[in-house]
Amino acid sequence: MCGIIAAASNRNVGKLLVQGLHKMEYRGYDSAGIALHQIDKIAHLRTLGKVNLLEEKMIAEKPKSKLGIAHTRWATHGEPSEENAHPHKSNERVYIVHNGIIENYLDLKEFLKKEGYTFSSQTDSELIAHMLEYFLNKGNSMLDSMYLTKEKLEGAYAIAAIDKEDDKNVMIARSKSPLLIGVGVDEFLAASDPLAIGQLTNEFVFLEDGDVAELSSESYTIYDAEKTEVQREVTQIDISSQSTSKGDYKHFMEKEIYEQPDAILNTIDGRVGGEDVLDNIFGLGSSEIFEKVKRIQIVACGTSLHAGRVAANWFSSISELPTQTDYASEYRYRNPHVDEDSLLVTISQSGETADTLAALRYAKEKNYLSTLCICNVPTSSLARESDYSIFTNAGPEIGVASTKAFTTQLAALMLLALSLAKSRKINPKLRTRVITALRSLPDTIQETLKLKDTILEIAPEIANKDNALFLGRGIFYPIAKEGALKLKEISYIHAEAYPAGELKHGPLALIDEEMPVIALAPESEIAEKLVSNLEEVKARGGTIYVFADPSITMDLKSGKLINMPKCDFLLTPIIYTIPLQILSYEVALLRGTDIDQPRNLAKSVTVE
Ligand code: G6P
Repeated sequence: MCGIIAAASNRNVGKLLVQGLHKMEYRGYDSAGIALHQIDKIAHLRTLGKVNLLEEKMIAEKPKSKLGIAHTRWATHGEPSEENAHPHKSNERVYIVHNGIIENYLDLKEFLKKEGYTFSSQTDSELIAHMLEYFLNKGNSMLDSMYLTKEKLEGAYAIAAIDKEDDKNVMIARSKSPLLIGVGVDEFLAASDPLAIGQLTNEFVFLEDGDVAELSSESYTIYDAEKTEVQREVTQIDISSQSTSKGDYKHFMEKEIYEQPDAILNTIDGRVGGEDVLDNIFGLGSSEIFEKVKRIQIVACGTSLHAGRVAANWFSSISELPTQTDYASEYRYRNPHVDEDSLLVTISQSGETADTLAALRYAKEKNYLSTLCICNVPTSSLARESDYSIFTNAGPEIGVASTKAFTTQLAALMLLALSLAKSRKINPKLRTRVITALRSLPDTIQETLKLKDTILEIAPEIANKDNALFLGRGIFYPIAKEGALKLKEISYIHAEAYPAGELKHGPLALIDEEMPVIALAPESEIAEKLVSNLEEVKARGGTIYVFADPSITMDLKSGKLINMPKCDFLLTPIIYTIPLQILSYEVALLRGTDIDQPRNLAKSVTVE
């Protein structure tokens, strides 16, 4: 993970580098650091903790510089500490920042130790600084040293490096970890994410795997994996127009929960017309490809996989296609058999999740008919490497716990289920029914958000517990899993989800007055069975909170029955997600946790 940023400019860059780090804190926030070239020396500042601590140090020391690199870290090798924070240096000469993992770091460290280099951190990254210096000392240029170093490195990396002997240039390199150049006025920038430099430019150049580039305040030059100078396309993106402030909300997560009616509207806008979904909304030719699809494989991580598991039900019931779902981190290791005419669907908010990208790259070697991604970031690696894509248009999601990204993924996946059905010329009436329901979904979400007051009544009862169980059946089981994930991510309460029918096969043993049970009970053919499952909990003294269709009645000894707004059954998973998000948020607020940046987590997980 981690976020890296670099700048070569005609003005002071310290402040803009730190501002960029703030924008990338979602990538990691356990320590931060900066290296600033000052002609005769390099100022090197690092702090344990969040970027604002580094900022305080900068304000106190006021280092001036026109060339610098900076980093915000999510620890992989070595605990969060000042010594392990980037930039790492070699003999006060070469300073580097790194995002990714160097898999053969132990061998390379051994080699460098034998060459007389001493290590001051436990990271895999520090060796990059020493390796660059090792090659520089042999008389190579920085460009050649970077290529020679790259030859040695196995794993994933985005690197930015500066040399004390050169006060004009910063060298950057990319392999499997995202890295781009920002074209500024009298300055060139590099970062892991356009968000970091979106206030400074709207022209970006996305590096490809194997690329190395040299940046000065006047120009940049890109070389490909073979060291041939290449031109890469300049992409215009207006990031400054995208809202990345909290507005009147206490947290980004809170803001993002309440943005969901608009976000969903943006997902479906321009993609449905009349009584059906429009053709080719996943890219030119997608409707024709969909005619041939006979099977679907979904891969994703975390919340995005929960969306995939809901969609697997839709692909079965609406598109009539058998669908398999896998954790992206597991998919490659089960030697998957790929049937003819299978479509690979990846789902990722960021489009940079290393496991999902690795699964896509693996799948491209298999005989898939085509690959398609559901993503919120059009410029992401996943979007660029997939045959077809649809963007959820949720706007930037900053809170680490995913909310609007999830519900918009569900809306986009529903569009995919409908498109597949349309291409396969099946279920026209059902398609019309779902399109009508999709159109009123933003209003139904707005109504659901009004449940906040009721949720505020139950939040204190859950906030003082150590565990919670979430129950759902069928298409609601992944929603129960998402509810449990949200609660544990931000409130640190241990939470698990079960299909309600599984309760009696083990977890019932956990039920007592200390174990709140949160159940999802929409009107469905299995509603009665779910109510019976809940009776089993009640009989054992458990406290039950049920989000239920108004037709469901239950006599609860303790807990609460909360009536949900009505909506087409196929879209109810989206609606039932909303109160679970609000509940997690309010519980975390009562427990005083760091809601937008929960401990140990990061939003974009760019390491496998
Ligand atoms: C991290 C985030 C989760 C997210 C998952 C997948 O674990 O904390 O919120 O669901 O990555 O991320 P993606 O960007 O691929 O959807």
